[in-house]
Amino acid sequence: MPLNNKSIIKGTYLPPGDKSISHRILILTGQVIGQSKIKNLLQSEDVINTLKAMKLLGVQIIQKNKDFIVFGIPPGGLFQPKKVIDFGNSGTGIRLMSGLISSNNIEVKLVGDSSLSKRPMRRVTQHLSKIGAKIKLKKNLYPPVKLKGTGSAVPLNFEIHIPSAQIKSAIMLSALNTKGTIRIKEFKTTRDHTENMLKSMGYNIKIKENSIHRFIEMKNNKELKKINYNVPGDPSSAAFLISAACLKPGSKLKVKNMLFNKTRVGFIKTLMLMGGNIKVINKRMVHNELIADLVVEQKKNLKSIILEPKNIPLQIDEIPILSIVASFANGLSIFRGLKELTVKESNRLLLIHENLKKIGVKSIIKNYDLHIYGNYNLKKGSGIIKHNDDHRILMSFFISNMICKKNNIIKDKTCVKTSYPSFFKHISQLIH
Ligand code: S3P
Repeated sequence: MPLNNKSIIKGTYLPPGDKSISHRILILTGQVIGQSKIKNLLQSEDVINTLKAMKLLGVQIIQKNKDFIVFGIPPGGLFQPKKVIDFGNSGTGIRLMSGLISSNNIEVKLVGDSSLSKRPMRRVTQHLSKIGAKIKLKKNLYPPVKLKGTGSAVPLNFEIHIPSAQIKSAIMLSALNTKGTIRIKEFKTTRDHTENMLKSMGYNIKIKENSIHRFIEMKNNKELKKINYNVPGDPSSAAFLISAACLKPGSKLKVKNMLFNKTRVGFIKTLMLMGGNIKVINKRMVHNELIADLVVEQKKNLKSIILEPKNIPLQIDEIPILSIVASFANGLSIFRGLKELTVKESNRLLLIHENLKKIGVKSIIKNYDLHIYGNYNLKKGSGIIKHNDDHRILMSFFISNMICKKNNIIKDKTCVKTSYPSFFKHISQLIH
């Protein structure tokens, strides 16, 4: 195990390609006639499953050295697949692709692994049924998704009551082959990569926001244009090493080419409020996405933080690693409103709580709020971490070895390949 309580983080770091953007760029370039090129695509299991799904639906995708070349087909032109489509562990994959398929006149069965087979799908399919798709779910809630799409989707106004980019993006992808205007009202805290990409590809999309909501209007009267897209670094993956650097005074980490979209970097603000010394430099816009470099130069210990429910979607995937950070920050941290965390790759709220106990950290769950009693004393460690093959739980508790007297035991680390296959390589390059 390379990490222990004497470890600090030092060096220059290029995070892997962003997972959310990688899914979306494969799907959207697959809907453009002509040849698009994708650089720095995240080659993790989740994304590769979306790539395979697009191929099964008739899109040609070839790898040329490190790049991927996509020869798309027009919206509405998906082929009838010859077999079941397997999304493995990926909620983003199955939900976004359900949306895309729902407005195509084909019949599919979408399946996933044991974790995905327990995740709610009706939050997406309830909207897709309204446009005319016929959908059956296991127990009316879970995958497999048996979906018969429609070639004549009804243009509607949608209101989304859960802050979820997956629900929104599924509806947006169904709109690619829907005649007329579709309108979506959703919470503006959800990630907006689908919108940004569609704008970059010349689509007719208008967006307005007020203090709480985002209003999206889409019309499919302009063709999507092909694009050469360079996928920026994933802040949700970089969060593990950035947090690790903030945890240990003496660390110095330079992060290059990281996505800095405001819907994704809530955790950076949180770390800064806790006393993390992070400088954000070289901000630039590429394909309507903000990209930046970061310098983390940690000199002192961290203090506790209170996160309100409205801030949670901005760092939903980073709550597991932030809970490790809070364990070592002086004082009581409270993360309020974590209900969505219970329906991720695992019940993350419960697993965080159980594993914190194992490493010697007191935490309490009250309703859906998580209270963590932090201090700078080293934690006991030696816990056998229960990760249920959830990649982010595993990586977070791997980092917890930096604040524990003894290493925690983590069996079967293969699930990092879901989102971050090079996690252990990067750790050994940057650990000192
Ligand atoms: C994602 C959206 C989020 C996030 C997930 C990726 C996306 O899920 O947790 O890891 O790429 O759209 P929800 O939309 O369910 O909040």
